[in-house]
Amino acid sequence: MLELTVNGVVRTADVEPEMPLLWVLRDHLGLTGAKYGCGISICGACTVLVDGEPVRSCGIPASAASGKKIVTIEGLSAQGLHRVQTAWIEHEVPQCGYCQTGMIMSAVALLAKHPKPTDGQIDDAMSNLCRCGTYARVRKAIHGLAGAPIATAAAAAPGGADAPPAPAAGTA
Ligand code: FES
Ligand code: FES
Repeated sequence: MLELTVNGVVRTADVEPEMPLLWVLRDHLGLTGAKYGCGISICGACTVLVDGEPVRSCGIPASAASGKKIVTIEGLSAQGLHRVQTAWIEHEVPQCGYCQTGMIMSAVALLAKHPKPTDGQIDDAMSNLCRCGTYARVRKAIHGLAGAPIATAAAAAPGGADAPPAPAAGTA
């Protein structure tokens, strides 16, 4: 029995420890936000955060994440959408959407580390593949978030750093 802390909750799964984390998340814990793309740690569709770092969950055994804090897209925000998800909508980033979970998780990790990333830092961090070619919109959305505090875990309180800014007076 494997014990994993996912989105702030301790979960158990009756799996072999070498089963890839992606399979455990999707097939045993019902968290299907992370997607299967290549299965060989290249495309990034399966990206989740492990102790705040973006990890391609198809490429690591689930046991390697045991004892660490795993965050999937389902757990990004304690209430409503995460700030990065809101920016993605505003900039109309997703096209077919298949790769976008991984894109968003990578962007969350990038912005937590570099609140005002340069184009070079974006290029280094956003190695996710997108068949729809959303790269320019991804970059625009990330630049639009520059300087905003970014939470990387569901533990953030409602209205906390992961929540979109409150509307200006008179606009609600
Ligand atoms: S499915 Fe994991 S990197 Fe492509
Ligand atoms: S939005 Fe379609 S693959 Fe990226």
